[in-house]
Amino acid sequence: MAVHVWIWLVFLPLTDAVWPLPQKITYSSHSYLVSPRLFRFQYARESASQPGCSVLDLAFVRYFRITFPGSSVTDSDQKYSPSHVDALQVITADSDCDGYPILESSEDYMLEINEGISTLSADTVWGALRGLETFSQLVYRTDDGSYYINKSSIVDFPRFHHRGLLLDTSRHYLPLKAIFETLDAMAYNKFNVFHWHIVDDPSFPYESYTFPDLSRKGAYHPQTHVYTFHDVMKVIEYGRLWGIRVIPEFDTPGHTASWGKGQPDLLTPCYRKTEPSGKYGPVNPIMNSTYSFMTQIFKEVSTVFPDSFIHLGGDEVDFTCWKSNPDIQNFMKQQGFGTDYRKLESFYIEKLLDIVSRYGKNYIVWQEVFDNKVKVKPDTVIHVWKGTSSQYNVSLANITGAGLKALLSAPWYLNVISYGQDWRNAYEVEPIHFNGTAKQKKLVIGGEACMWGEYVDTTNLTPRLWPRAGAVAERLWSHASVRNVSDAYIRLSEFRCQLLRRGIRAQPLFTGYCDHEYERD
Ligand SMILES: *[C@@H]1O[C@H](CO)[C@@H](O)[C@H](O)[C@H]1NC(C)=O
Ligand SMILES: *[C@@H]1O[C@H](CO)[C@@H](O)[C@H](O)[C@H]1NC(C)=O
Ligand SMILES: *[C@@H]1O[C@H](CO)[C@@H](O)[C@H](O)[C@H]1NC(C)=O
Ligand SMILES: *[C@@H]1O[C@H](CO)[C@@H](O)[C@H](O)[C@H]1NC(C)=O
Ligand SMILES: *[C@@H]1O[C@H](CO)[C@@H](O)[C@H](O)[C@H]1NC(C)=O
Ligand SMILES: *[C@@H]1O[C@H](CO)[C@@H](O)[C@H](O)[C@H]1NC(C)=O
Repeated sequence: MAVHVWIWLVFLPLTDAVWPLPQKITYSSHSYLVSPRLFRFQYARESASQPGCSVLDLAFVRYFRITFPGSSVTDSDQKYSPSHVDALQVITADSDCDGYPILESSEDYMLEINEGISTLSADTVWGALRGLETFSQLVYRTDDGSYYINKSSIVDFPRFHHRGLLLDTSRHYLPLKAIFETLDAMAYNKFNVFHWHIVDDPSFPYESYTFPDLSRKGAYHPQTHVYTFHDVMKVIEYGRLWGIRVIPEFDTPGHTASWGKGQPDLLTPCYRKTEPSGKYGPVNPIMNSTYSFMTQIFKEVSTVFPDSFIHLGGDEVDFTCWKSNPDIQNFMKQQGFGTDYRKLESFYIEKLLDIVSRYGKNYIVWQEVFDNKVKVKPDTVIHVWKGTSSQYNVSLANITGAGLKALLSAPWYLNVISYGQDWRNAYEVEPIHFNGTAKQKKLVIGGEACMWGEYVDTTNLTPRLWPRAGAVAERLWSHASVRNVSDAYIRLSEFRCQLLRRGIRAQPLFTGYCDHEYERD
């Protein structure tokens, strides 16, 4: 299922909108009863994955619950109906159920809804998960409580491979429950990367076994506001079962105030005139101890997180502290850096990149690393977060022009809110609308919605994210021609009601109502 050249869209009535919209979907008005009493998910005989496949065994259980919410068997299940769908049989070409999804994983799937046994076929279990999600959204309930699905045929695949969402657990600690709920909603939106901005200036909740003082002294609370090794394992496995990669970000040399509490001599002492002021700046790039520390901490991080990518940050390095420090000034002279502190930053980042590549990892960095002309390996991914559309398009052109891969987040800072339907701005973005060749455009591997945590904790995370992040999800999954905002409004409103039915406190887009409003139970 590699080359897809055609596209055929049929806009759907309310009851069976699928979000994000599949690449190709054809319907008929033939509807089949789906009885929760009879219906089952099953492996087809010719499927490479078979019972015992962890990812699909669990997905079948989950999607049964999602497809038939609160399905106690009622009389209407047994009522006469000429045609049923009694099973969805799944066929995967690949048998791997124990691995992790990767950037290149196929998520393609085909869904044929027919009388009797319907069929979902996919290359991988990850594609099967995406198809199960679509299936669950196709089933609808009529007023008498019965479930139906229409005869239909879907061929689907993502437009971009990297469809991420960033959560910030440093500015506010997010309990595991909030992370799991976010992963659930991500899967409903076909997101496939959880970018875990796990530490930053305000707190260091990652509990390191190599350097336990980092969280003991740098977390908001050393027992209640930390992620233990087991917590991290749980998040990674929870993500895997939804086909979601977990990419941690350990941002340096800036954004590291909390690191300094548990690791003496890591940060640069700032000076007032000739005396240390008692304040600390970014990581101290002139100390050998800095690099032996980074070697050990990233060795741990590389082992704990299975994904081949690590996000190394590199954004917003404030040079004032470095400038004030006489030892750094001397070092600059020795190295012939003049007064260009970007060269010092590059010196640090290049050493860090060397360290991390020794562990066989690829890396993602924020765009400043590119803007400051740091030498990076050719497979580095540059994460674009700055500027308006007329600026980030130039960044994308420059980055891909240099042959590097790019990820877009600049228009998708969902922590920034405004009155009205601001999801529309996120929706209207076109990631490859920049001046570049077709080859350059292929280097845009996707994007990420970001939810920075200054004003967000577990009280408001979910309603602030959903359904707004759905706009980004559809932009990154669906065909480029799917951009009709009025149509998206209708489908997204319906999808939001669907999220409520699944227990996700998604905020409303505008006036209106859902058949089942959110209720706390
Ligand atoms: C599904 O079938 C019903 C009943 O035949 C019909 O009213 C509805 O329009 C169909 N939906 C789609 C999307 O074709
Ligand atoms: C750092 O290591 C280098 C090379 O091993 C050595 O030449 C230098 O003196 C060391 N610097 C400090 C401050 O220890
Ligand atoms: C970037 O976008 C702006 C405004 O949308 C446009 O004027 C400019 O030509 C674009 N630049 C490139 C390199 O595509
Ligand atoms: C893009 O590259 C041009 C030419 O090297 C440079 O002048 C410009 O500042 C760069 N802009 C961005 C946003 O990277
Ligand atoms: C687009 O890029 C080409 C090649 O880099 C350059 O010659 C041209 O001026 C650019 N056009 C715009 C509108 O930026
Ligand atoms: C956009 O969608 C709306 C609502 O479905 C529809 O009425 C309108 O014709 C569509 N516009 C275009 C240009 O397709």
